[in-house]
Amino acid sequence: MNQPFSGFSKLSKEDKINWIADAYFSTPNEAISLLKKYWNSDAKIQKLHDEFIENTITNFYIPLGVAPNFLINGKYNTIPMAIEESSVVAAASKAAKFWSTRGGFKTKVINTEKIGQVHFLYKGDESKLDLFFIQTKAKFFTDTDSITTNMQKRGGGILDIELRDKTNLIDNYYQLHVTFETKDSMGANFINSCLEQFAKTLKEEAQNFDLFSETEKEIEVIMSILSNYVPNCLVRAEVSCPIEDLEEKHIPNPKEFAERFVQAVQIAEVEPYRAVTHNKGIMNGIDAVVIATGNDFRAVEAGVHAYAAHKGQYSSLSHAKIENGIFSFWLEIPLALGTVGGLTSLHPLVKLSLEMLENPSAEELMQFVAVAGLAQNFGALRSLTTSGIQEGHMKMHLNNILNQFEANEEESHEVRKYFKHHVVSHSAVVNYIESLRK
Ligand code: MEV
Repeated sequence: MNQPFSGFSKLSKEDKINWIADAYFSTPNEAISLLKKYWNSDAKIQKLHDEFIENTITNFYIPLGVAPNFLINGKYNTIPMAIEESSVVAAASKAAKFWSTRGGFKTKVINTEKIGQVHFLYKGDESKLDLFFIQTKAKFFTDTDSITTNMQKRGGGILDIELRDKTNLIDNYYQLHVTFETKDSMGANFINSCLEQFAKTLKEEAQNFDLFSETEKEIEVIMSILSNYVPNCLVRAEVSCPIEDLEEKHIPNPKEFAERFVQAVQIAEVEPYRAVTHNKGIMNGIDAVVIATGNDFRAVEAGVHAYAAHKGQYSSLSHAKIENGIFSFWLEIPLALGTVGGLTSLHPLVKLSLEMLENPSAEELMQFVAVAGLAQNFGALRSLTTSGIQEGHMKMHLNNILNQFEANEEESHEVRKYFKHHVVSHSAVVNYIESLRK
């Protein structure tokens, strides 16, 4: 295609599919039939998915799995996880079971503050702007009354508005830096609506402020938007036990295991190349629960990685120590999540996932998500510091290889039996399937 298609979004879904099939596929009918295979047979569900975004042509599945046996603050939970990577749910379940007999996970929400900013340019005397802000601050609150009433009824609202001078970074650059409490909603719409009203108030009130010169009255708002960096919306998850309790079949020497584990975490604390992969493993658990519960995983990813660098160098999100014979492993991460609003009441599987978690508050969900991240990190580090990661990964990947080679049930059975006692590699599995087929 070397020319734009104007009005594509106005075509019917059927016409969009036909056009794409003709434009890009050597066998258009096959492409059309594949796209339609993934349509939901329930027209109501399909309509819902069609309307989540523009130009929907079909649905793109990822599996929804569950990791049971998560003992959190003394109560058992089953955690829903939406993810395509083969070993993640297995690793979470294994870590959950391991810690369920060693005191379980302990969690705590540290704080829940969200942030938004109005970025603006002001060309003039700073002391006059300070005075203007002091005199106008109450008006920012009253002008957003209609937006904040419902949130206030739920115990949330605007916490504070600050004027921040950023002229050391960019000439004439200032901000309204605003903090919010949004209770069980993630709060993006609420925050952005408040910010856009602040921007209006800012511009209008500047026109009426007698001390401003004509130039000073012309405040230029560049943009108003929430921040996905929420270092004061923090949750902590932790596991700990006496070193000797770490012993099990695969951990014959618990002291050596604990020391290697702590060393591995320390490497991620000081070495960014390792920290990124270490944190990616944490995000395997976090994203899977965030997606299953209808939250915005891109927002969470952006905020978490920014937090991983908050001391000036990208570093591990988790930490471990041995003190007085006790092994402890924990993480603290920022998570802005919601259990009302957004997709939570729209997507049937999100509703189901939330019900599985006994319809948690946003604070409770933060704790489940943090636990899934810590469990995932524990599973990865346990493998990495003992058998290596590939043994478990390749066992889980075996199914993908069998599917790739369209192995029938008998072949799959034979392959699984053989590779219980042999090292799984892509070529070893392919050779074995070929030998069976000879
Ligand atoms: C793979 O998805 C995640 C790991 O690389 C995490 C880690 O190295 O800690 C196994």
